[in-house]
Amino acid sequence: MLGLCAAIVKLCASSMPTNVNAEAAWNYHEVTKHSYTNVRTNPHFLDFANQPLPFKIYPALEPSRMPTEVRQTGVAALSAIAGSVPAQTNAAPDLEAVAQLLYLSAGITRQRKYSAGQIYFRAAACTGALYEVELYLVCRELANLQAGVYHFAPAEFGLRRLRAGDYRSVLVEATGGEPAIAHAPLTIVCTCTYWRNAWKYQARTYRHFGWDNGTMLANLLAVATALGLPAKVVCGFADATVNRLLDVDSQREVAFSLVAVGHDSGFSAQTAPPAQTTPRTLAEISPLAFETVPLSRDEVDYPLMREMHAASSLGSAEEVAAWRGRTRLGSTEMPNLPPPAGSVVPLQPLSDAEMPRDPIEQVILRRGSSRRFARTPISLAQLSTLLDRATRGVPADFLDPMGTQLNHLYLIVHAVEGLDSGAYVFHRDRGVLECLKQGNFRDQAGYLGLEQQLPADAAVDIFFLADLRPIFDRLGNRGYRAVQLEAGILGGKLYLAAYAQRLGATGLTFYDDDVTRFFSPHAEGKSAIFLVAVGHRVKRQSQS
Ligand SMILES: Cc1cc2nc3c(=O)[nH]c(=O)nc-3n(C[C@H](O)[C@H](O)[C@H](O)COP(=O)(O)O)c2cc1C
Repeated sequence: MLGLCAAIVKLCASSMPTNVNAEAAWNYHEVTKHSYTNVRTNPHFLDFANQPLPFKIYPALEPSRMPTEVRQTGVAALSAIAGSVPAQTNAAPDLEAVAQLLYLSAGITRQRKYSAGQIYFRAAACTGALYEVELYLVCRELANLQAGVYHFAPAEFGLRRLRAGDYRSVLVEATGGEPAIAHAPLTIVCTCTYWRNAWKYQARTYRHFGWDNGTMLANLLAVATALGLPAKVVCGFADATVNRLLDVDSQREVAFSLVAVGHDSGFSAQTAPPAQTTPRTLAEISPLAFETVPLSRDEVDYPLMREMHAASSLGSAEEVAAWRGRTRLGSTEMPNLPPPAGSVVPLQPLSDAEMPRDPIEQVILRRGSSRRFARTPISLAQLSTLLDRATRGVPADFLDPMGTQLNHLYLIVHAVEGLDSGAYVFHRDRGVLECLKQGNFRDQAGYLGLEQQLPADAAVDIFFLADLRPIFDRLGNRGYRAVQLEAGILGGKLYLAAYAQRLGATGLTFYDDDVTRFFSPHAEGKSAIFLVAVGHRVKRQSQS
């Protein structure tokens, strides 16, 4: 009898989806931590002769150019980042809106020469300016754009059509019937390419996937809102199906997130009769085998990342639907911060009438990571507006109900008028900052931000910390993708909120365990996920 039970347990374990067992995510997180010692003992160096191309190029496919004129929405950036269009609003983008969405999230907005060549800076911040996130469109026929699967080519500002026809039903199948995807005229698929970022950051790149995809999504969501389009981030999908639809080599490039754009209440790709030519299942999707230009002479493989990706992959529509069923977080399952025990300072955000009204497109084009901060103070109203506007909720399948947040924000305040210097934790639900300790922590902040000057000089450093245990309990290994992606989105919103107020900002990396230690005992058990520094930037001579 005992033997039979053991056999059944073994059978169940072997058929249990790997996503549920979060050992892989814990292991990946632990192994990729930065510490004072491992940063110094890592022999890695940048081989500029083998630097990967920043673009994916299909030499056999001619891109069709998109309109380059930036349509002025006139919507204030601080409104666009804080709000979203109700999910059921009927709206579909036309080609001009598609161009606007792509340009302001992943387009080339600036370029600069340097000793080894040219850097093409993009609309959203990205670690190392290496731009490992590619965008694809899966759409029905839109005004001035035929139904198809397209790759966005930022260098030409064009679209390469990979498949002709309406393939949305494949995404509906892959997402287990996710309603936003089922009703969306357009879904943007974001993929990440390992080597393009791992050339510099090695195995830590899998974290960067979430960060860099997230900053891009902050822009994309804000622009969609400004254009009157509902948009929703979807992390739950059968990986192999989406990868096959795009025909990416999943050893090198993998789908990371989807964004449903627009809504058509009269149509559901799920219930629509399939067109004769449209496949619905993995086996029916034909390979394309388009040639792409190699990224560099050699590629170094970091198997740990592929293992992490495989362990967080979902295998079938049923598994995806079950995963999504677990994303609805209750207060007991996703514990909030304990009530404040120390002194608190209420936020004083600017109202709609008082806030700067610079439109979202202007703010995105103005944004660029600050390379130096002046040690001059920002106001409490500016800091409050940043925090308030950036944390009003992200429409995402893993943040249910809307307004759920996986990351907690911890601050080191150096120079904010009306706020004592010190360490704080942000209670979003109460709109207050709780002081954890007072003092001048500029040196410690510089150290925590990987011994860089930027976090020491900023007016405030905003750290994201998450309790990974309840996240992994609910979302499995895929919770690791979700927590990094959420951090990137919130970080991207903080960037935009800073630039909307004519402040500067930069993402930064950090010494993981030292960050947790600094904010402990309050942060005990949490993991450091992300860091953004904000302040007055010292402009370069050529910068306006
Ligand atoms: C998550 C994240 C982490 C970053 N970390 C650092 C950092 O540690 N040091 C730094 O100088 N810049 C850092 N940056 C800034 C990038 O280098 C910058 O975004 C990139 O060069 C592109 O330039 P841009 O933001 O001006 O468009 C980071 C950016 C992001 C999004």
